[in-house]
Amino acid sequence: MRTITLINGDGIGPEISDAVVKIIEAAGLKIDWDLQTAGADVIEAEGVPLPERVLNSIKKNKIALKAPVTTPIGKGFRSVNVQLRKDLDLYANLRPCKNLPNIKTKFDNVDIVVVRENTEDLYAGIERQVDENTAESIKIITRNASERIAQFAFEYALKNNRKEVCCVTKANIMKLSDGLFLECFRKVAQNYTQINTREILVDNLCMQLVQNPRQFDVLVLPNLYGDIVSDLCAGLIGGLGVAQGANIGLDCAVFEPVHGSAPDIKGQNKANPTALLLSAIEMLRYIGENIYAERIEAALFKTLKSGICTCDLGGMASTTQFADAIIKNL
Ligand code: NAI
Repeated sequence: MRTITLINGDGIGPEISDAVVKIIEAAGLKIDWDLQTAGADVIEAEGVPLPERVLNSIKKNKIALKAPVTTPIGKGFRSVNVQLRKDLDLYANLRPCKNLPNIKTKFDNVDIVVVRENTEDLYAGIERQVDENTAESIKIITRNASERIAQFAFEYALKNNRKEVCCVTKANIMKLSDGLFLECFRKVAQNYTQINTREILVDNLCMQLVQNPRQFDVLVLPNLYGDIVSDLCAGLIGGLGVAQGANIGLDCAVFEPVHGSAPDIKGQNKANPTALLLSAIEMLRYIGENIYAERIEAALFKTLKSGICTCDLGGMASTTQFADAIIKNL
C-alpha cells in the first residue's frame, strides 16, 4: 500500500480533506495516509507552524496532498506554504484551468495551464523596514530558477500536446529582474522549436484573459504574477472552489488547491471539495494510479452534469452531500 502525506490544513481544510479521502477510499484505492498537521494550531504545542516532522514525512513519502493553511496578514509567522515550497525546492507550481461540465462561466473551452515559478521573486518575502515611513521588498530573479521553470513549461507542453508557451513579465519596467526571466525563456525556447512561443506583458495579459482567454495555452510566469494570474484564471472556470494545483520539485511533489483556508465559511459544511479533489486526481495520475484517477474524475463530472454542486457554484449541496453524490456515481 502506498503511503502519502496528508496535510489537512485549517479553516475549511479538514472538511474538504475528509471528503476527498472518503471519495478515494470509496473508489477502491487503498492509501496509507500519513496525517501531518501544520499552521497556527501547532505553534502552541510545537513552537513552529511547520515542524520538521512534516518536511521529513514528505521527504520520505515523496508525495503529499495538502489542504490550505492560514497565513496571518501583515504580521505573524511566515507562510507555511511558502516555507514548504522553499524547503523542499518545489520549484514549479502547476495550475491547469479548464472548464468543467455544467459549470456556467462567461467563456467555454478555456484550457489554460499556468506554470508559476515557485521559489523566488517578491514572494520570497525578503523585506525590511527602512524607517518608520518606508518598507522595502527585494525581488530576486536568478538564471538558474528562471531557466528551470522555462524548461519545465516546455517539457510540460511537449508531454501534453500543447501548442504554445507564453512568457509573462513586466520586462519593459523591471528590465533587469523580469528581463533576466525573459532572457532565460528565450534561451530555453531554442531547444523546443516544435512549440510556438509568445511574450506578453502581465498587464496586457490580464486584459486579454478577461476578454478572450481561449487564445492562451501554457503561461510561464515569475512567482508573484503567477499567483495573481492563476486566481484570475480560476475565476474564468468557476472560481476558487474548482481550481486545482501542484507544487513539483525534483524529489517531491505536493498537490494542493489554488484556494486558501476560506475562514468565512469554515465549519459550515459549505466548502467545495472539487479543487482539492481535482488536485488529488492529478496526484493519482502522477503516481501512476490512472485507473482510479479516471474513475474518480468520471464520477465528479457525472455529479456536476446531474446539477449537483455546492453553493459557490449556485447549488444547494453541502460538502458532505456533494462528496456522497460523487461516491454514488463512482
Ligand atoms: P480564500 O481562497 O481562502 O477565499 C477567497 C474566497 O473564496 C472566500 O470568499 C472563500 O469563501 C471562497 N472559497 C475559497 N475556497 C473555497 C471552496 N473550496 N469552496 C467554496 N468557497 C471557497 O482566500 P483568502 O480569504 O484571501 O485567504 C484565507 C487564508 O488562506 C489566508 O490566511 C491566506 O494566507 C490563506 N491561503 C492559503 C493558501 C494555501 O494554503 N495554499 C493559498 C491561498 C491563501
